[in-house]
Amino acid sequence: MGLLKVENVSYSYQSQYQKVEAVRNVSLELEQGKVYAIIGKSGSGKSTLLTLMAGLAFPEEGDILYGGESIRSLKLEEYRRDKASVIYQTFNLFPLMTVIENVIYPLELKGVKHSNARDIAKKHLESVGLGEEYYRRFPNMLSGGERQRVAIARALATGSKLMLADEPTGNLDVANGDLVVKLLIDLAHKDNLAVVIVTHDLSIAKKADLVFEMQDGRLTQM
Ligand SMILES: Nc1ncnc2c1ncn2[C@@H]1O[C@H](COP(=O)(O)OP(=O)(O)O)[C@@H](O)[C@H]1O
Ligand SMILES: [Mg+2]
Repeated sequence: MGLLKVENVSYSYQSQYQKVEAVRNVSLELEQGKVYAIIGKSGSGKSTLLTLMAGLAFPEEGDILYGGESIRSLKLEEYRRDKASVIYQTFNLFPLMTVIENVIYPLELKGVKHSNARDIAKKHLESVGLGEEYYRRFPNMLSGGERQRVAIARALATGSKLMLADEPTGNLDVANGDLVVKLLIDLAHKDNLAVVIVTHDLSIAKKADLVFEMQDGRLTQM
């Protein structure tokens, strides 16, 4: 059984002047251990779909099941914090926290004791290739690729098995982008995560186990 099941999901934005049907009747099943790429033009609904899978908005129609249960019936706060993690193009690190504090913070939010949280944070920073010399740096003292790796370590530390990456290489040069993609693929295949990568880079999409294209709110498998 899949980890996440998206069933006939639709979502629209309604402004005063117009209604935009951003996601139209999308179905998709994500399994642990696999990498999914979603490609598609700007405005085709990729980020909206990710937002729905992350529990940051509810589908208007259809449902999303995590481990067989509708996310409507799960504690959303917990779902967002522990079950689904989102990686953004802009990294979204806390600028006034050091590298290690960025990773520790969400753990402390869920009640993990500081010393324990520190050990978990170290382990995950290690797994993304960031050693002790990075712990006390602030995000503005890191390269883009390093920032993205901190964001990934922070997501991993929560124990989430679902990693939703919205154009994770969009702000990186090719070499750093490749490193981040390789890391995400390793996490899926070695640590048994379900990884979704939204990208318009076809060379990245080619490395995924399954590729989908979003077109005007509709999703098709390539
Ligand atoms: N907060 C919003 N309010 C109104 N319309 C939005 C909002 N976010 C996205 N949209 C619209 O929804 C459509 C899909 O957007 P998005 O999911 O961001 O696409 P993509 O990530 O593929 O570029 C676009 O037409 C976009 O303008
Ligand atoms: Mg987008």
